[in-house]
Amino acid sequence: MLDIEKIRKEFPILETRVYNKPLVYLDNAATTQKPKCVIDAISDVYATINSNVHRGIHHLSQAATAAMEHSRDIVRRFIGAEHSHEIIFTRGTTESINLVASSFGETFLRKGDEIIVSVMEHHSNIVPWQLLCERKGVRLRVIPMTERCTLDIEKFRAMFTGRTRLVSVAHVSNVLGVTNPVKEIIEIAHGRDVPVLIDGAQSIPHTSIDVRELDADFFVFSGHKIYAPTGVGVLYGKEKWLNAMQPYHGGGEMIKSVRFENTTFNELPYKFEAGTPDYTGIIALGTALEWVNSLGIANIAAHEHALTKYAIKRLREIPGVRIFGEPDGAAVSFLTGEIHPSDTGTILDHLGIAVRTGHHCAQPLIEALKVPGTVRASFAVYNTREEIDAFIKGIERSIKMFS
Ligand code: ALA
Repeated sequence: MLDIEKIRKEFPILETRVYNKPLVYLDNAATTQKPKCVIDAISDVYATINSNVHRGIHHLSQAATAAMEHSRDIVRRFIGAEHSHEIIFTRGTTESINLVASSFGETFLRKGDEIIVSVMEHHSNIVPWQLLCERKGVRLRVIPMTERCTLDIEKFRAMFTGRTRLVSVAHVSNVLGVTNPVKEIIEIAHGRDVPVLIDGAQSIPHTSIDVRELDADFFVFSGHKIYAPTGVGVLYGKEKWLNAMQPYHGGGEMIKSVRFENTTFNELPYKFEAGTPDYTGIIALGTALEWVNSLGIANIAAHEHALTKYAIKRLREIPGVRIFGEPDGAAVSFLTGEIHPSDTGTILDHLGIAVRTGHHCAQPLIEALKVPGTVRASFAVYNTREEIDAFIKGIERSIKMFS
């Protein structure tokens, strides 16, 4: 059992008052708040070891490089990867997917080839593929949902053709909080010799990830969704794919030698890490993952699942509330009668309660649900049942005001 009150004390921002009310932060699927150890890790880098990594023979550069590479190993262990060089640091999920779309796309895709995504995807797992489709004459195919808002696996099975080259799907929907059967999806795709990218942006903070057990070819996530700073993320890729793929950005660090006649590229992971990386963010990402390890991801998940279950139960008691899908993660999306989601969000905000409203950067899914948007409450380890009670009171108040 986690001591949630003790954990809350590690998050300075949770002391904030909004419109003179205690902050109730239920927008964790957008970004999580940061514990003091992560905030301190950032200032510690600048106060003690700041120096450019992989470039200096001097002491500080070596210390910063060692700290960054230590983080790479923490990430490797956190997601169960075999090699540290399969961990590429990026700016986040979006950049990781763009990297694969560009480098995998340029290396392996030809006109007429096909990529499969799902209707549940966030824009960051749609638009990079659309751009690739335009560039290369590739076709994007979309797994639809069943009436229960789950991915239609039978339709997915029937979607493969001799031209299918990649499947790219979300592990957990950022809108519905529904976990997709990614292991089954990977097995089906591998049965057709097609690699799979898993967008782990919404699963990484709530699920124990083992990329080898999943047999994922690529797994991507953002640090800021798991208590780490913004601006740093991860692309895991199987060595065989990363080695075969052409580089993404060109610049310093990703080269072995540069001549005007010909340039040769560095080994993994540096081949995909052009320019000075956000080593401060990367080091703080390591701190965040160790902090999560110290609590235990299974304990965090159990707490969040209990909160989600409680929130769903309380929401279902309110007449006119419509919950979308069957959330099993740490987020729930809903509407209250005919009230516009941004009206609900505004009332909640005035009560100090932060939720996200609108299309959640997943417009095709919102269109499939045939609604103008939803209200989404999403939970982290520091949330409490009392906060959910305050949120439910806020919903009841908004219904009264608008009816
Ligand atoms: N992808 C983030 C969200 O779902 C920003 O809110």
